[in-house]
Amino acid sequence: MSDEIVVVVGSLNVDLALTVDRHPSPGETLIAGGGGRSPGGKGANQALAASRAGAAVHMVGAVGDDPDAEVALGLLREDSVDLSAVAVVPGPTGLAVVTVAADGENAILVVPGANAAVDAAAVDRYADLLARTAVLVLQGEIPREGIEAAARAARAAGGRVVLNPAPVLTLDPAVMRAADPLVVNEHEAAAVLEQLQGAGTGATTDAGGDRDPQELVAALRDAGVRSVVLTLGARGAIVAGPALDAGDRTEVDEPAVIPAAQVEVVDTTGAGDAFIGALAAHLAAGEGLVRAAERATAFAGRSVTARGAQSSYPR
Ligand code: ADP
Ligand code: NA
Repeated sequence: MSDEIVVVVGSLNVDLALTVDRHPSPGETLIAGGGGRSPGGKGANQALAASRAGAAVHMVGAVGDDPDAEVALGLLREDSVDLSAVAVVPGPTGLAVVTVAADGENAILVVPGANAAVDAAAVDRYADLLARTAVLVLQGEIPREGIEAAARAARAAGGRVVLNPAPVLTLDPAVMRAADPLVVNEHEAAAVLEQLQGAGTGATTDAGGDRDPQELVAALRDAGVRSVVLTLGARGAIVAGPALDAGDRTEVDEPAVIPAAQVEVVDTTGAGDAFIGALAAHLAAGEGLVRAAERATAFAGRSVTARGAQSSYPR
């Protein structure tokens, strides 16, 4: 069946970082600093993190036929992530324009570009790869149909799916429930809950901020999600699943609370992606969910001590 490989089906972007005193109003022109381009996209970030955490990683995705493609792929290539399933399609590579104001407030614009090409048909081309995947990692920056096709193909072959529905999107409830684990922050947890409980209108509010994290995790499990990792930033993470695997600290069906690393915080950009990539790598190596989440916590903790997303991931 599965080799011990991690496959990430997801987005590849270039991040364009700008600094401003304040964000512009409509019609206004301001002078910005920065302008540097760095590799990003949740899929690519998670793939690099999994690779740096020791896994053999394949990336499935798409870049454009523009010069940004090489920026998007640069660190993945250096780290020997297998890029043979990254298509080059006409048009621009995905682009995220990140504007940071003096008060630290971010404004982000994302152009999906080539990521929009990662649909069900594109994913189906890599059925052989998905059939020998130990751990498949999915996020929300490619078309819904691509995510669902990949999840179904990996599950049908007995693979494990790590699903990070970010940014929040509507997905087949069966795909959400089969996630092992579903990795969410509080905002995403509340949005997924709304979908699974059928109360969702698609437009989600900021629900979740006022709910107890333990309660959110329990509600997701009650709604049928196989296992859950709720990440809480500097407050760490909560892990819950069925009779957590052998080798874990606990084998009972009780949530484990994992405190965050105590570190000097420089830049938390991409910390969530660092966590997910490292988690997938340790799951693929055969570790239990709690142990893998502890290692992912250490990895993500190191990533917040350095600037940037991919460039901050430890080796
Ligand atoms: P997201 O950005 O997806 O909301 P989080 O902010 O929850 O993700 O961060 C994911 C993980 O990264 C956390 O569970 C934690 O392990 C680590 N992390 C994030 N921020 C910090 C921090 N300030 N100090 C230490 N670890 C952090
Ligand atoms: Na960082």
